[in-house]
Amino acid sequence: MDDERWGEVDRYIAGLLARSDPALDQALHAGAEEGMPVISITANQGKMLQVLARAVGARMILEVGTLAGYSAIWLARTLSEGGRLVTLESDPKHARVARRNIERAGLAEKVEVRLGPALELLPGMQAEGLGPFDFVFIDADKANTPAYFEWALKLTRPGSLVVCDNVIRGGTVTDAESGDPGVRAMRQFIEMLADEKRVVATVVQTVGEKDWDGFAVALVIG
Ligand code: SAH
Ligand code: DHB
Ligand code: MG
Repeated sequence: MDDERWGEVDRYIAGLLARSDPALDQALHAGAEEGMPVISITANQGKMLQVLARAVGARMILEVGTLAGYSAIWLARTLSEGGRLVTLESDPKHARVARRNIERAGLAEKVEVRLGPALELLPGMQAEGLGPFDFVFIDADKANTPAYFEWALKLTRPGSLVVCDNVIRGGTVTDAESGDPGVRAMRQFIEMLADEKRVVATVVQTVGEKDWDGFAVALVIG
């Protein structure tokens, strides 16, 4: 198996089960054109988020890390009437591009992009009484993942699902001596999942267009 085959299989599956459309294409390409990093989830991962959000009947969704709004569009499309998605983004340019993409996708009524470092926004959201969220997608600065997970637990309820992207990062996660703050944070996060009595959780490795990575899924049970 090699990277080329992984991408080929991803495209085959996406062609049947995670078809693109102008709004999604726009969110992928507008970001790249604006010189933003090309680090959105893939189409198949977007569909996976939809399936998981639907499985828990999500009406309130929280995302940490918006970029150009690609994953937010996938998620917001699963929301029923009255459903809402709040997505947090620290980079003003990313937030601006995302708002435009979300607007073009016809989702402006359902999606709110909040600008600021997530760890500064989350306490305010709790103070506002926002939530509980039925579904949380963590996909921002990797070093803060354990802190975002703590916040996810505060802002959810039993039955909510927390999904976290980029847990494997090319297999670097097994390096106990790693000096990379992202790797250290993901190791800490997985240990939290193992010790945390309020969740039942697993990590799934993935290959595909975005190489070798993986995501964590944690069901809040108490
Ligand atoms: N979820 C997006 C990709 C997000 S990339 C998708 O799949 O389409 C990660 C994003 O997190 C970037 O846009 C980056 O600017 C943002 N980010 C980085 N640090 C952050 C922080 N402290 N608070 C909020 N967002 C942050
Ligand atoms: C990076 C971030 C992501 O969310 C991702 O999916 C891939 C890479 C990064 O910061 O490098
Ligand atoms: Mg990611």
